[in-house]
Amino acid sequence: MTSPAERVATEFAETFGGKPEGRWWAPGRVNLIGEHTDYNDGFVLPLALEQGVAAAARPTGDPVLRVRSVQQEGTVDVALSDIAPGVVSGWSAYVSGVAWALREAGHEVPGLDVVVDGDIPSGAGLSSSAALECAVAVAWNELAGLGLSRHDLAAVTQRAENDVVGAPTGGMDQMASLFGRAGHLVFLDMRTLEAEEVPFDLAAAGLALVVVDTQAPHAHVDGEYAERRRSCERAAEILGVPALRDVTVDALDAALTRLGDGAEAGLLRKRVRHIVTENARVLAVVAALRAGDDLRTIGPTLTASHASMRDDFEITVPEVDTAVQAVLDAGAHGARMTGGGFGGCVLALVEADAVEAVVRAVEAAYAAAGFRAPSAFVAVAADGARRL
Ligand code: GLA
Repeated sequence: MTSPAERVATEFAETFGGKPEGRWWAPGRVNLIGEHTDYNDGFVLPLALEQGVAAAARPTGDPVLRVRSVQQEGTVDVALSDIAPGVVSGWSAYVSGVAWALREAGHEVPGLDVVVDGDIPSGAGLSSSAALECAVAVAWNELAGLGLSRHDLAAVTQRAENDVVGAPTGGMDQMASLFGRAGHLVFLDMRTLEAEEVPFDLAAAGLALVVVDTQAPHAHVDGEYAERRRSCERAAEILGVPALRDVTVDALDAALTRLGDGAEAGLLRKRVRHIVTENARVLAVVAALRAGDDLRTIGPTLTASHASMRDDFEITVPEVDTAVQAVLDAGAHGARMTGGGFGGCVLALVEADAVEAVVRAVEAAYAAAGFRAPSAFVAVAADGARRL
C-alpha cells in the first residue's frame, strides 16, 4: 500500500505535469484531555498523530489556486482574489481559506498547484481539517519565503477555519498539528498560546493509548458546538470574567450560585462546571506527568473527564458512552471521548498487552447494542507539520 506522501507525488505529475517543488506534511491529533476548554482560554493536552495530510505543491505564474484531492473527483480552480468568506465551500475551502487568511494578514502569496491526500479517517474528530490547513500553510510559508512562525501559522489556519470554512472552533487542533512532537504531549495554554512539550513514553510504561472510532453519525455537530460556545460566553458575561478560564475550582460553588435559578441558569451551571473542572483535570494530569508519576494514575482523571462531558457538557452519544463503559469493563485504566463530541472517537489508556482484548470488548458491546462496527488503532505521538 502506498502512503499519502507517495500518492501526492504521483498524482501531482498526472494532474499538473512535472514535479512538485516539494512535499509537506501535517498530522491529525488526538486530545488526551481538555475538551471545549480551548475557546474558554483554558488548557488542553493533545498529541499529534502519525496519521495526517500530505501536500505536493508548486508555485504558478498566475494568482490562481488549483487544488486536487486524491480522495475527491476533479480539480478546484479559484483565483486568489475571488476567495472570501461565504464564497468558497466544500473540502477545498480548507485550502483556499489558508490563502485568504495569509492575504488578510498582509502576505503576498503566489498561485499554487497543489495535490493533497491523507490517512486520517474523516469525520472521526481527529482533525483531518486542521491537518489539511496546516499542510498547505507550511507549504505556502516556505514557497513564498514568508518566514512565519508556528504561532503565526496557527493564527492563520484558525482564521481560515473560523472565517472561510465557517466553523467557530477554538484553535487547539491547528496548534497540535503545528507543535506536535514525537513521544510527547503538547500542553497548551490557550490564553497565552504557550506550548510545552511533555514527555509521554507509553511504551516504557508498558502502556498503549487505544483510539476507537465509534463510527457514530455526527448529527447536528456544528449547531451543537456553536451552542456550547455561546453558552460558555454567556456564562462568562454573567459572571463578569473575560473567559471561564478565570473561574477557579475553589471559586466554582460561588460562581454557580451567582448564575442563579431557572432553566437557563441550570443549563449554564452545568456548562460552567464542566469547563472549570476540566481545566483542573488538565493541570492535574500535567502535574502527574511532570512529577514522573506512574502513567496509570492519570486513568481515573480521564474517566472523570468523560463523565463531565456526558453529564454536564452533554456532548456524548450512546455509541461513545457504550465504548467507554466497555473498555473500562475490559480493564482500561481510564477512558474518555476525545474531540468536539456527538460521535467521533474514544481513547483508552490500557496495558500494552491488553489492546486486543479491549478492542474485542468494544466490538462485542457494539454488536449487542446493534451499533455499526467500530474501528480502532493505537495512537503514537508524532512530530508536527514539516517539509518531507
Ligand atoms: C474541536 C474544535 C477544537 C476544540 C474541540 C473540543 O476539535 O476544533 O477547537 O474545541 O473540538 O475540545
